[in-house]
Amino acid sequence: MENERLDKIISNVTGISRNELKKAAKQGRITLNGNTVNDLSQKADTENDTVTLDGEVINIKKHIYIMLNKPEGVISSTDDKTCRTVIDLIPDGLYRKGLFPAGRLDKDTTGFVLITDDGEFAHNILSPKKHVGKTYIVGLSVPVNKNGIALLENGLTLDDGTVFKPAEITALDGDNRMFRVVIFEGKYHQIKRMFDAVGSEVISLKRIKIGGLSLDKTLEEGCCRVITNEELKLINS
Ligand code: URA
Repeated sequence: MENERLDKIISNVTGISRNELKKAAKQGRITLNGNTVNDLSQKADTENDTVTLDGEVINIKKHIYIMLNKPEGVISSTDDKTCRTVIDLIPDGLYRKGLFPAGRLDKDTTGFVLITDDGEFAHNILSPKKHVGKTYIVGLSVPVNKNGIALLENGLTLDDGTVFKPAEITALDGDNRMFRVVIFEGKYHQIKRMFDAVGSEVISLKRIKIGGLSLDKTLEEGCCRVITNEELKLINS
């Protein structure tokens, strides 16, 4: 249980000032578990209680974990002057201060981006020491032969000294141009550089899984939803 004052909870997640919230409460616009709230010094359980403002449920959990299906052309940062970011795709109902993508995808990569306000959780899924696999579907310009696949499976060192740890590689077609690849680290342009090192170019790249949690197939590109507590456990499994 995480019990805190309602004005503090709502203000923290929405950014609305406590004074504004006081006015809203006076006007009967805030409810706690279905009952209109007059006194915002009342405490609520952020993990189990339901709060609404103007009829909309506010996610008051201490932290939020969002699954986004990133489209091409969107960048994985919190703000940018010219380009749409993954944070721009979060609808008002889920938006809160401090959201950031836990791991970046390139502008032309699609698929699963996890967005959260929980720095410790993000560190855990990104640290190579924690061994959380990131699974991608990779489309290539030209086939990779058996030797190339073996190199990627065993780990390789680029001419510039960059070391890529062993990856799990599964061919998805007969002519070795489509692979499922699992990597356990997240170096800059990692998959593209791995395949470049074995003589092929990545022409399509989609992340479909983080740890044991798959991207929801019903989630259209550009859409997102909250990750449930049960799903969250799958990430480290
Ligand atoms: N590897 C890449 O090269 N790009 C990504 O976006 C993710 C992994």
